[in-house]
Amino acid sequence: MKKYLITGVTGSLGKAVLDGLLPKVSKDEIAVLVRNEEKASEFKNSGIDVRIGDYNNESTLIDAFQGIEKLYFVSSSDLSNRTEQHLNVVHAATKANVKQVVYTSFQRRNETASSPIAAVAQSHLDTEKALIESGLNYTILKHGLYMDLLPWFIGAQFMENKSIYLPAGEGRAAFILRDDLAALAVNVLTSIGHENKIYNAYAESAPTMCEIAVEVSGIVKQEIAYVSPFVDEFMTTLSQAGVPAEVAGMLAGFSSAIAAGEFSEVSADISSLLGRKPTSVSTFLEQVYQA
Ligand SMILES: NC(=O)c1ccc[n+]([C@@H]2O[C@H](COP(=O)([O-])OP(=O)(O)OC[C@H]3O[C@@H](n4cnc5c(N)ncnc54)[C@H](OP(=O)(O)O)[C@@H]3O)[C@@H](O)[C@H]2O)c1
Repeated sequence: MKKYLITGVTGSLGKAVLDGLLPKVSKDEIAVLVRNEEKASEFKNSGIDVRIGDYNNESTLIDAFQGIEKLYFVSSSDLSNRTEQHLNVVHAATKANVKQVVYTSFQRRNETASSPIAAVAQSHLDTEKALIESGLNYTILKHGLYMDLLPWFIGAQFMENKSIYLPAGEGRAAFILRDDLAALAVNVLTSIGHENKIYNAYAESAPTMCEIAVEVSGIVKQEIAYVSPFVDEFMTTLSQAGVPAEVAGMLAGFSSAIAAGEFSEVSADISSLLGRKPTSVSTFLEQVYQA
């Protein structure tokens, strides 16, 4: 019997959770799920039990989940097939008799098709419902927007343009650092009493992009304005600047969701569970832009 199976370990979040877990529990208690055998060597070489399985293929998951007590289930990065993939994971966990599934869900306010990020949110809603109805013990972590994405929102050209240009209006977002989400996961996996709980995995404060522009101005010692265009104008400007439509569309969608207040709720859940405050936006911006 293995105590833990960590998925997504070839990606940023899963790797951070594995790295956080290794000093706390015996390596013999940990297995990882990898879909591509070529990417498994790093883990095999360090003596970790590697299970090969793909969210697209339920039978590979049933095999991979054998003897697993707690499954850390990182949501898929494949948005177009995500609901089907995630249902495969839930069904496989049920059939393999996994004792607890810790799922990385998503902060949101509007749960209808009118949400600016319905395409992202729907698969999380479907997965949460499937988990809750499955009879499995679940822990749902409603992840806020990654703070790590702030440089992407702010853009590489902000110093030249002297502005942050995003259709995020005056919306607030409780950005949270991926490493804090990993620390939360390690805490939940290694302590008791988290069965059938839903935690708000986002920050205790939620700045606007305007406030972020003021913070950045102070760090780079130059005035950086915040300009919030209409979405059509934003798309045209980015297209003229040669930004791929898919990237501009993602920026517009998430910015519109910020404007609509999708990520504005704040929570003390992370502080209560970790016994410390998560990294603030100010600290993160200083780390990124101080140089
Ligand atoms: N809250 C936010 O702001 C935010 C932002 C970005 C993403 N996310 C979500 O959070 C997740 C984790 O973030 P991240 O930064 O760690 O993403 P990431 O670096 O792209 O990692 C995604 C992981 O999922 C694995 N994966 C994808 N499809 C799979 C499949 N069919 N079967 C098995 N494993 C599969 C990938 O494996 P491979 O290496 O084989 O591709 C990779 O290990 C993302 O997948 C996404 O759902 C949230």
